[in-house]
Amino acid sequence: MAPRRRSIEINPLFSRPGEATERPRFELADDSMLPETAYQVVHDEAMLDGNARLNLATFVGTWMDEAASRLYQETFDKNIVDKDEYPATAAIETRCWEILARLWNAPDPRAAIGTSTIGSSEACMLAGLALKRRWQQARRAAGKPASQPNLVMSSAVQVCWEKFANYWDVEARLVPISADHRTLDGHNLDGYVDENTIGVVAILGVTYTGMYEPVREIAAALDRIKAATGLDIPIHVDAASGGFVAPFLQPELEWDFRIGRVHSISTSAHKYGLVYPGLGWVLWRDTGYLPDDLIFNVSYLGGSMPTFGLNFSRPGAQVLLQYYNFLRLGRDGYRAVQRASHDVARHLAGEIAKLAPFELWSEVPELPVFAWRLKDGYTDKWDLYDLGNQLRQGGWQVPAYPMPDNLADVTVQRIVVRNGLSLDLADRLLERIKESVSYLDGLSGPLPHEGRRTTGFHH
Ligand SMILES: Cc1ncc(COP(=O)(O)O)c(C=O)c1O
Repeated sequence: MAPRRRSIEINPLFSRPGEATERPRFELADDSMLPETAYQVVHDEAMLDGNARLNLATFVGTWMDEAASRLYQETFDKNIVDKDEYPATAAIETRCWEILARLWNAPDPRAAIGTSTIGSSEACMLAGLALKRRWQQARRAAGKPASQPNLVMSSAVQVCWEKFANYWDVEARLVPISADHRTLDGHNLDGYVDENTIGVVAILGVTYTGMYEPVREIAAALDRIKAATGLDIPIHVDAASGGFVAPFLQPELEWDFRIGRVHSISTSAHKYGLVYPGLGWVLWRDTGYLPDDLIFNVSYLGGSMPTFGLNFSRPGAQVLLQYYNFLRLGRDGYRAVQRASHDVARHLAGEIAKLAPFELWSEVPELPVFAWRLKDGYTDKWDLYDLGNQLRQGGWQVPAYPMPDNLADVTVQRIVVRNGLSLDLADRLLERIKESVSYLDGLSGPLPHEGRRTTGFHH
């Protein structure tokens, strides 16, 4: 009889040490394990996460096609900062932001300057820093104090702007949104800006609601302020989502470098740029708007490459994925993808509005994003957080959260439609929403309060 072989290589996977034994989880073990075992342990724990495609809380891409996935696998080892070693990736990075400069109607695209970033947050930090530095330089040149900068923006800004203000000692002047002014729209702006204002942020696609802020009107208000007071205040457009939607779905809308007051624009490539997480872009309409002393020059390819960023090392593969999308989709492809998402958003919003408990916060705005609220007095047995929990049990992640500041007593629930949420899948979600509402309506009393509010996450 052959001796019993005990070698670990032939042990059934889940009977091996590591799988069939407990391993320390908060300290490094002394011994090693086979790669397949370690893979399975990590893979299985990650299985407990929600399904990314059913995560309707996030704006960030969760689907790319197979060719993109192949390219990603081939290039995940590239560090974007190694411009010497990867000159082709560096050239493609430059090409990408030059494409964006044209897409965003820079008056002289060759005079524009830009960079990739890890996402919109870093992009916004860089844009904010440029505004602050230019303001400081102008103040010092005029012999005036430059110690109390402020930045004016809506109370519905994404948290990255509150971080910017906090990290770089800039006062965040938040203009509250209200039922009458659901976005920053230039109304009363003169009450917020002064000689210490480094800029105004306009959001193309408010995170809470998907509504665009009217950049043209904000610029017109600033023009009036200039005529009355001489203050000449620039705009940064945080186009985290809209930067890749407006050029395709609302090409006539003037929000970009067509408006002279717009000095810089940022976007998340990993949102409607349709790239996997880890990429943003920021551009200035002209090199003159990015102070030289923020730029570090690295030499490569015998030339000198200006770099401006918070990180040093960062994945380079996403930049290649961006360029892949530009080639693969072109204008027609981007338009088709964003249109399909918008159609799905309109379908979902229309059906949800027909359900008795709900009213839409607004019609589907320019982004394929919409929010709804519970009608006043519909029920005191359940709320949108409870609905979120019900949907979560079915695998869907649909966040509920309070609106900012003046509207904080209003709770909304929001769906972000992204590439990959087909009409067919959206109908499955509608079924689940209807089932959940019947279940909640049928309860004999309110659900226990504790532990209900678990879906208050949003991006
Ligand atoms: C308007 C806006 N700005 C900035 C950000 C931050 O983007 P990122 O996650 O790419 O850092 C977001 C994210 O949702 C956003 O919606």
